[in-house]
Amino acid sequence: MSKAKIIAWMGRKGGIGKTTGAITLASGLARQGLHTLLVDADGQGNASSSVGIEPHDAFASLILEDSEWADVLVPVPEAFAGPGLRFDLLSAAELQSEVEHADYNLVTQVIYERFHELDSIYDVIIVDTSPSITAIHTAFYFTADYILLPTLNEDDSIGSLAKSIAYISAAIAQANQQADPPAVAQILGIVPQKISLRFLADRLMYKHLQQFYGAHYQVLPPVMRRAAWRSARTLTQSIWTAEVPGVAAARGEFEPVTRLVSSLLTHAQELVS
Ligand SMILES: Nc1ncnc2c1ncn2[C@@H]1O[C@H](COP(=O)(O)OP(=O)(O)O)[C@@H](O)[C@H]1O
Ligand SMILES: [Mg+2]
Repeated sequence: MSKAKIIAWMGRKGGIGKTTGAITLASGLARQGLHTLLVDADGQGNASSSVGIEPHDAFASLILEDSEWADVLVPVPEAFAGPGLRFDLLSAAELQSEVEHADYNLVTQVIYERFHELDSIYDVIIVDTSPSITAIHTAFYFTADYILLPTLNEDDSIGSLAKSIAYISAAIAQANQQADPPAVAQILGIVPQKISLRFLADRLMYKHLQQFYGAHYQVLPPVMRRAAWRSARTLTQSIWTAEVPGVAAARGEFEPVTRLVSSLLTHAQELVS
């Protein structure tokens, strides 16, 4: 059986679509029949509440108390993404800050070991992270296979995207200097979120992203600003299940992200078999 692919949504700013991206990608993959784990690694617990689960300290219990996976995982309610899916959640709440402030090296080692226990259990693990850089982020640079970076069309969001890329690149370069370099995550792509192509500024920004980053990273087609995203969230549904105005367009705009990741998974499985 192939190893679970771990994909983390990251970004050094709130409100840029990390949680939206994580819950939508995870549910989209689960609906394709993949055994999927959504990891809420942000103590605010937004990914948990978005799928209809009260945030609770499962992540912290796994890492700080060495809990069994079976005791910390919960199934994602059918109302969120549909019936009959193999789709679980690892939640997070207040105690997440204790993991964030623990020793970086130790947290990295424990997160790496605990998540690799799932290798033959899940096909894919999608991680939602917090906006501030913590030991958990460093841990996922080494534990995740891929990183997705959402960005808005605002200057400070573009600025924090540049910072994220510089920071991740530096961490990777540092790791590669070690005698026995650990495996590190690749930046899989940049996802422009909440874009209005009606506005010239937004069009220029998208062009700028492609010119600036396109040679090194995939710049995905923009996910437009649409009320359907908020409406689905208010109903505790995914855009795949919510029947709200504009949802078909939202699905179409997010689909390239799901397709990119599922093509990676199929490719990995073909290599193994
Ligand atoms: N394409 C979009 N159009 C409109 N609203 C969006 C879109 N994507 C996300 N949102 C909304 O923006 C808010 C912030 O998104 P969120 O994913 O929670 O950001 P983050 O996790 O980076 O803080 C949420 O209320 C979400 O519903
Ligand atoms: Mg969030």
